[in-house]
Amino acid sequence: MSTSTPTGTRNAGASTQNGRGPVGRADHAGGGGSHRVSARKAFFREFLRNPTGMAAVAPSSRGLAKRMLEGLDFGTMSSVIEFGPGTGVFTEQIERSIPRGWLEIEGGKGKVVTIDLNPRMVEIVRANHPRLTVREGSAADVEAIARREGIEPGTVDAVISGLGFASFPPELITSVLEATHRVLKPGGVFRTFTYHVSFVKSQAYQFRSEARRVFGGFQSSRVVWLNVPPAFVYTCRKA
Ligand SMILES: C[S@@+](CC[C@H](N)C(=O)[O-])C[C@H]1O[C@@H](n2cnc3c(N)ncnc32)[C@H](O)[C@@H]1O
Repeated sequence: MSTSTPTGTRNAGASTQNGRGPVGRADHAGGGGSHRVSARKAFFREFLRNPTGMAAVAPSSRGLAKRMLEGLDFGTMSSVIEFGPGTGVFTEQIERSIPRGWLEIEGGKGKVVTIDLNPRMVEIVRANHPRLTVREGSAADVEAIARREGIEPGTVDAVISGLGFASFPPELITSVLEATHRVLKPGGVFRTFTYHVSFVKSQAYQFRSEARRVFGGFQSSRVVWLNVPPAFVYTCRKA
């Protein structure tokens, strides 16, 4: 398995398609059974391998996924990029929010590209979301990855991030925020989340200070108490 530490390492497009059925869907849908166990297990296994890269012991809740997409109208967009899908909780909510016929493969104008550094997470998301473009790579390389998918930097409508910024080294926080700003179109939206308990971490401070510098500020949502641990969402907009 290649590295999944939170670095700017570029290894996009190198993942495998395993041809297996859906993995972990029921988990995110709030159901039970072996799929639920397998998504949580896969997430926890990867956390044990690489706690800093995964930055959480378990996937986010459906409540947090809904808060992440609140107020975003995909019908008015043409390209959406997701960072750090993990087992795909936010990806599932993104796919539910897409209007029928919006995706390029359905004859529409829309494209969703989701990028994770961890090949096992890429495999899971790819198996569960065959209509979306799932790439292995670093969010820091989003411009090159987008370009390979026919999306020009400066034209992306929204970036939805599941990254654990509060576990990132400072230079990676800066490079991901700057690359995100460049890839978005004017008026484009960047959404990310942070755990309530991480608020006082130095990297969380660094994130807020860099978000102010790069985007000119951010808005915070109310806390989603039903996430474990409780979390809230930041929204930045490119001027
Ligand atoms: C905190 S988990 C969140 C997963 C999922 N979004 C959720 O909320 O359940 C962070 C994810 O980001 C991925 N990741 C870490 N560093 C990354 C990077 N530089 N670029 C892209 N993905 C990265 C990890 O592999 C992991 O899947």
